[in-house]
Amino acid sequence: MSELLLKNARIIDPVRNLDEIGDIAIADGVIVESGALKSPEVIDLTGKVLSPGFIDVHVHLRQPGNTTAETIASGTAAAAAGGFTSIVAMPNTSPSADTAGAIEYLRRIAVEQGVVKVLPCGNMTKGGKGEEMAGIGSLKNAGVVALSDDGKCIQDHGLMRHVVEYAKSFDLPILDHCEETTLAAGGVMNEGKWSVLLGMNGIPGASEELIIARNIIFAREINWKIHMQHVSTRESVDMLRRARAKGIPVTGEATPHHLSLTDEYVKKFDTNYKMNPPLRSEDDRQALIEGIADGTITVIATDHAPHTQTAKLVEFDHAPFGIIGLETALPVCFTRLVVPGIITIPQLISKLTAGPAEVLGIRDYSLAAGHAADITVFDPEAEYVIDKNTFRSKSRNTPFDGMKVRGKINLTVVDGRIVYREGC
Ligand code: DOR
Ligand code: ZN
Repeated sequence: MSELLLKNARIIDPVRNLDEIGDIAIADGVIVESGALKSPEVIDLTGKVLSPGFIDVHVHLRQPGNTTAETIASGTAAAAAGGFTSIVAMPNTSPSADTAGAIEYLRRIAVEQGVVKVLPCGNMTKGGKGEEMAGIGSLKNAGVVALSDDGKCIQDHGLMRHVVEYAKSFDLPILDHCEETTLAAGGVMNEGKWSVLLGMNGIPGASEELIIARNIIFAREINWKIHMQHVSTRESVDMLRRARAKGIPVTGEATPHHLSLTDEYVKKFDTNYKMNPPLRSEDDRQALIEGIADGTITVIATDHAPHTQTAKLVEFDHAPFGIIGLETALPVCFTRLVVPGIITIPQLISKLTAGPAEVLGIRDYSLAAGHAADITVFDPEAEYVIDKNTFRSKSRNTPFDGMKVRGKINLTVVDGRIVYREGC
């Protein structure tokens, strides 16, 4: 019997409203009552914060198709180093994850080579092209936990409405990348003062807001869960707030980069500031922070989007959208949200655990005895400088290299197995 005793940690368990110093006992992959262990391995966690394992509902693993940028092995290793015990794999691989076979492939490689739990997300449409619905029933049978065409957005509203009805009948939440393409076409950054000054083509906030409005209408009409990926504008947050107040089953996520950076950074012409949706204005960033603080936005997700140096080291206009985020999420959010007192440590943990679990329909995601031992431990005092050369990810496309941060992942445990340990 394998036993582990995590001692003297500040245990924070948002679902049970728990914040107290104590021990967590683990036997055979499951959390058990303290005192039940015979001869456990003991790790002293004095001064450290222990929580349920972080869940990231928005990760691009790039396998199959672009294994130079990332693989299931390297992406899950990066997740473990970032404190994530479960990640939802986006389907915009090559080939797309739009068939049962593709999902079976992902699940098999994840079991063989992955170090954290990989939850597959299937496409809503074939090839993610937005033209024809994917075989949603067979995707469900193959084990997908959600549906998304992330990277793209279904423009045909009739088709989208049909997809929402199918998603409901198969009990699958929709994770939608909200982008109206005629407004976004040709844009490479936020449309605003900085796009004018820099002479670059802009992507207006309205491109996102139109689709958020559409999705709220369908979520209400069909009474089904639609989660808005990487929300980036003030108006989007306002619409989400009003819809949630009416009891419409919509949720939203914000990324660490939209919470901490603005479109002004694009003046560096560094393609690590290019992602979709783009970094927005300071007013939009403040609105996201307000949404995080007041509970409108219940999820922080990374949109970990690896791209090779070769792909990113080109003119801004020609670079692909996206940055990596798994290994910087906790320190960036801790430094930008918790240290200035915008949110508390339990609130931050909730956005990384209970919030995402709820989106996926996972009930009671907590540290109560009997639950799988998926656990994250971090040091809330540790200060250091982010160094991209230490990353487990195969890619290096981050705007956070060299940032002075506070908050360091010390331990990641998946089903009672230590998959990352550093400094404890
Ligand atoms: O910046 C992004 N990168 N946004 C997306 O929606 C897709 C992602 C990617 O796959 O690279
Ligand atoms: Zn997206």
